Amino acid sequence: MINLTALAVLAALLSQVDAVPVYGMCLPDDSATTTAAPPVPTVTGGLNKLIQAKGKKYFGTCGDAGTLSNPKNSAIIQAEFGALTPENSMKWDRTESATGVFTFSGGDVVVNYAQAYGKLVRGYTLVSHTNLPSWVSSIGDKNTLTTVIQRHVTGLVTHWKGKIYVWDVVNEMFNEDGTIRSSVFSAILGEDFVSIAFRAARAADPSAKLYINDYNLDSNNSKVQGLVRYVTKWKAAGVPIDGVGTQTHLGANGAGGVSAALTALAGTGLDVAITELDIAGASSTDYSTVVKACLGQAKCVGITVWGVSDNDSWRLSSVPLLFDKNYQKKPAYYAVVAALS
Ligand SMILES: *[C@@H]1O[C@H](CO)[C@@H](O)[C@H](O)[C@H]1NC(C)=O
Ligand SMILES: *[C@@H]1O[C@H](CO)[C@@H](O)[C@H](O)[C@H]1NC(C)=O
Repeated sequence: MINLTALAVLAALLSQVDAVPVYGMCLPDDSATTTAAPPVPTVTGGLNKLIQAKGKKYFGTCGDAGTLSNPKNSAIIQAEFGALTPENSMKWDRTESATGVFTFSGGDVVVNYAQAYGKLVRGYTLVSHTNLPSWVSSIGDKNTLTTVIQRHVTGLVTHWKGKIYVWDVVNEMFNEDGTIRSSVFSAILGEDFVSIAFRAARAADPSAKLYINDYNLDSNNSKVQGLVRYVTKWKAAGVPIDGVGTQTHLGANGAGGVSAALTALAGTGLDVAITELDIAGASSTDYSTVVKACLGQAKCVGITVWGVSDNDSWRLSSVPLLFDKNYQKKPAYYAVVAALS
């Protein structure tokens, strides 16, 4: 249930956006199988309270203006989750689509919502090869690109200074073999773009934690080992990196390597977070394995699932989340509760 005060707060937040963008949403998939509800354990304070009782910092999810305006989704976020990551609204093409012209309204909705309901925010993301406007990808000289990275990072981090718990500063910069992905950033600046971005973020908000984030870090594979080698080197060189985010978009039965991956990533000495968890089929066993992997790793600070309901998932057809398309708890939800209890 959502009360009238909550609705009024949400209406006030949404009125701050000129046009409410709806990103990351898909059409309902009627072929998705529904599962009978298992016995209902009593939960007070939701997943966030349970994971905090285990010494972790948060259990989070993602959202943007569109999903936050759905009262069913919003009520679950308020009851269950302690952190919010903007799904798309802070990406470069949404926040600086033209040179030096900043648009903060979509991200403001998420940050203001989080402030109103006492949620942490994982800022996502500052420098990534995806969602990059062509005016950035066509830059051909070091000085211009350095200035452009510094201005973008400083612009976003300063705007939300003091309101963001963690920034994913650099996102998806590695190839599967652990080498650095080809992008305008690596082509023009080599690996120096990493230190340029992290140093600008640290200077703009010294209290925000700064992470490097990537996908397919789901076992102790070549990508994990490459990331660990580079991050260890950068850390030794004084680059202000506080943590590693592992997106953890898994296939069915894909959770078996997560514990080893977290251990390998924690070998950097940095914090580790599971940042975009969803699992095809959402089997109870898979979810339980991932949650236990985080609980079993002292450096794992928290888990973020990539959406609340299958209705809003970017992988809707694989029903990968904890709540079904009608926003009802699935068996995987109860498996997570059991793993946290
Ligand atoms: C990961 O694999 C590498 C290379 O085989 C090995 O040196 C390292 O000890 C492994 N780490 C973990 C946590 O299994
Ligand atoms: C599912 O999401 C759509 C937006 O994509 C929304 O219009 C619809 O109300 C949602 N379904 C439910 C049951 O809330």
